[in-house]
Amino acid sequence: MEFILKEKGEFALDVQSGLSAPNKYLLSKYFYDHRGDELFQKIMQLPEYYLTRTEFSILHHNYASILAPILEMQHEFNLVELGAGDGFKTKILIEYLESEKAAYTYYPIDISGNVLAHLKQSLRDKFERIQVHPIQDIYRNALAGQLWDHKRRTLLLFLGANIGNFVLEEAKEILKLMAATLGSGDFALIGFDLKKDPELILGAYDDSQGVTRDFNLNILTRINKELGGDFDLSKFKHWPVYNPVNGECRSYLVSLADQEVRVDALAATFHFKRAEAIHTEVSKKYDKEELNQLAEECGFEIIHNFQDDHEFFTDSLWKKR
Ligand SMILES: C[S@@+](CC[C@H](N)C(=O)[O-])C[C@H]1O[C@@H](n2cnc3c(N)ncnc32)[C@H](O)[C@@H]1O
Repeated sequence: MEFILKEKGEFALDVQSGLSAPNKYLLSKYFYDHRGDELFQKIMQLPEYYLTRTEFSILHHNYASILAPILEMQHEFNLVELGAGDGFKTKILIEYLESEKAAYTYYPIDISGNVLAHLKQSLRDKFERIQVHPIQDIYRNALAGQLWDHKRRTLLLFLGANIGNFVLEEAKEILKLMAATLGSGDFALIGFDLKKDPELILGAYDDSQGVTRDFNLNILTRINKELGGDFDLSKFKHWPVYNPVNGECRSYLVSLADQEVRVDALAATFHFKRAEAIHTEVSKKYDKEELNQLAEECGFEIIHNFQDDHEFFTDSLWKKR
């Protein structure tokens, strides 16, 4: 409850800052209310959204090799996951850990209390003896709070290319925070979406059924519902663009008219010029050189890049130096 109240206050402040900025923006972490969670479930099943099924297949083919280094330590460990969502792919790893009778506690971290509640229940239904401690918070707070046992080894998961929701400099900051949380010799498994045919990338954020459009527009619905906004959704267009040079796929909501939008909770009215854009999400794609540099600069050694045959995606296993 305390978190929900705090989160509401932060949501209002962040909307105020984002819509008052010279280049308007809304933070992508606010996509995930109840409806946003449902829409993201649909996105993961879209034919154009190659990310989920590619990463699923990487984990499905490599779970034993991925988990071998932490299991070989023969020590109780923490399995900490940033942005766990529904844990659909994590369950491949958990299933193996359970079959190996590994001694571990799972700490899924997510901003959405709704997904965490479902995840905990679904794990309890499937794995009787599993130890799960959900943490509802944003990545930075959860990492700074370090609510897991530091006498144990840790494997930190950051799957689903969630790291791509940060521009490069922010991603470095998060990875350095991760490194600061881990002890020397601990592990991190990070899912990176790789640079590839721009058409394939763009399709994943602009599907033919319009689910990614609805997901993007839902952030305005959330402002309407939670902050008393009067956004007219028909006056904003979902507009993703991919830049093959820096690997950033950015989603925007573009105002189709000169318009005023009132947000009661902020006691403010925001003006939108015709064709003015609100930036809502970045999904950065990486290449191998960038990965090597990131690991080096943030205090990790790359153990192995687990990837699919098309080299669309990599789950990169890192060890804290
Ligand atoms: C794109 S989904 C991916 C879920 C899962 N990792 C997967 O690979 O399927 C992102 C998840 O991260 C959560 N999330 C997004 N931004 C977050 C933040 N800043 N802090 C904590 N959780 C966040 C969302 O609620 C959502 O469940």
